[in-house]
Amino acid sequence: MTAREVRPGLTWVGAIDWERRLFDSLIPTPQGTTYNAYLLRGSQRTVLLDTVDASCLPALLDHLRGVDRVDDIVIHHVEQDHSGSLPFIMERYPEARVLISPKGREMLLDHLRVDAGRVETVEDGATLDVGGRTLRFLLAPWQHWPETMMTHLSDDGVLFSCDLFGAHLASAALYAPDGCVEGPARSYYAEIMMPFRNAIRRNLDRLEGLDIRVIAPSHGPLHDKPERIRTAYDTWVSGPPRNAAIVAYVSMHGSTREMVERLLGALAERGVRTLGMDLTSTNAGDLADALVDAATLVMATPTVLGGAHPLAVSAAYLANALKPKLLHVAVLGSFGWGGKTAQQIADLMSGVRAEVLPPVLTRGLPGDDDLAAVDQLASAIADRHAAAGLS
Ligand code: FEO
Repeated sequence: MTAREVRPGLTWVGAIDWERRLFDSLIPTPQGTTYNAYLLRGSQRTVLLDTVDASCLPALLDHLRGVDRVDDIVIHHVEQDHSGSLPFIMERYPEARVLISPKGREMLLDHLRVDAGRVETVEDGATLDVGGRTLRFLLAPWQHWPETMMTHLSDDGVLFSCDLFGAHLASAALYAPDGCVEGPARSYYAEIMMPFRNAIRRNLDRLEGLDIRVIAPSHGPLHDKPERIRTAYDTWVSGPPRNAAIVAYVSMHGSTREMVERLLGALAERGVRTLGMDLTSTNAGDLADALVDAATLVMATPTVLGGAHPLAVSAAYLANALKPKLLHVAVLGSFGWGGKTAQQIADLMSGVRAEVLPPVLTRGLPGDDDLAAVDQLASAIADRHAAAGLS
C-alpha cells in the first residue's frame, strides 16, 4: 500500500495490518487493523504525527522513502501500537524532536527509554507553525490513557483524534466505507473507549467549536463525513440504554441452561429484546459490543467449587472493567450444595453501579417454583425498563 494524500502536503504514511487477529491478547480483530501515521510538510517544518506498531516498521519506512528530514514527531499516545517504531524513527531522523503531553513524556520514557533530551512537552492549546499551516495540540487526559492528546490542523479542518473515532479495520479505502461506523467503529468503541465515556463526553463537547472536515484517527479509515461518527459517539456515550437484556450464560449439566431458556422466553413475552450469549463460545469483543446499549445484564452460572463458573467470573470482570451504562444486573443459576455465587458476581460488578436484582438460584434441576421465580425476574426487568421509558 502506498502513502496516500489526505490534503495537499498532508499524507497518510501508516501501516495496514491485514493479518492481525488479536489485540491486547484479548480482543478479536477479525478484519485486521491499521496503525495510522501522517506526514505534514509545511514550508518551514516537516512533522510526523505518530508512528506505527514496531512489527510494521518496514511499511512506515517505505512510506518515508525520500523524506530526508523530519523536524517534529508528534506522539498522541504512548501505547506501543502507535509509539513502538519511535526509537527507530528517532534514530533515522536524529534532528527530530518529539512533541508530547507532559504526562506522555513521563510515560514515554518509562515505556520506550528513548533519549529524554529530545522529548519536549506541549501544553493544551499550544500551537506549532510549520510554515503556512498551524497545528494546535489538544490535551485530552483520560479520553483513553492519562497522557492522550489530539491535534487539530485548523487550516484544513483535520482532527487527528488518536484512538477516539478509530476502528480495527484493515482497508485499502482511505475513508470509512459504508457500515464502518455501525460495525468496526462501534466494536472499537465498545472494546477500547467505553470505559472512558465521561472524559469522551467532555471532549465531544469541546470539539463542537472546531472546524472538523476530516477526522484522522489512529486506527482504521479516516472519516470524511465526520458527522456520522460524531453522532454515533454521541449516542453510544450519552444516549439512554435500550430496552434490551443480555443473558450471558454457562451451563455444565443443563440446569442453568433450562433457567436461561425460561428467562429468554419470559423476557421476550414481556417485550424486552434479548441476547443470549453462551460464554463457552462468546468472545470478549462480542460481549463488549452487546454492552454498549443494553439496559440489563443477567449472569447465569452454575456454582462450581463454591463460586461462579470461571467463564462467568471472567465475563463479569470484563463487564465491570468496560463500565457500560447498564441499569440492572442479576444472577441466576443452579448449585449443588451451596456457595456464594450471587455475591461474588455482584462484588465483581460493583464498579458498574447498576441496581442488583434479587438472584434466582436453585438447588439442582429447577422445579416449578424456581421457574416461577425466573418469570418474576423477567417481570422485574421488564417493569423497570418500562418505568425508565426505554425503547
Ligand atoms: Fe491504539 Fe490505545 O492504542
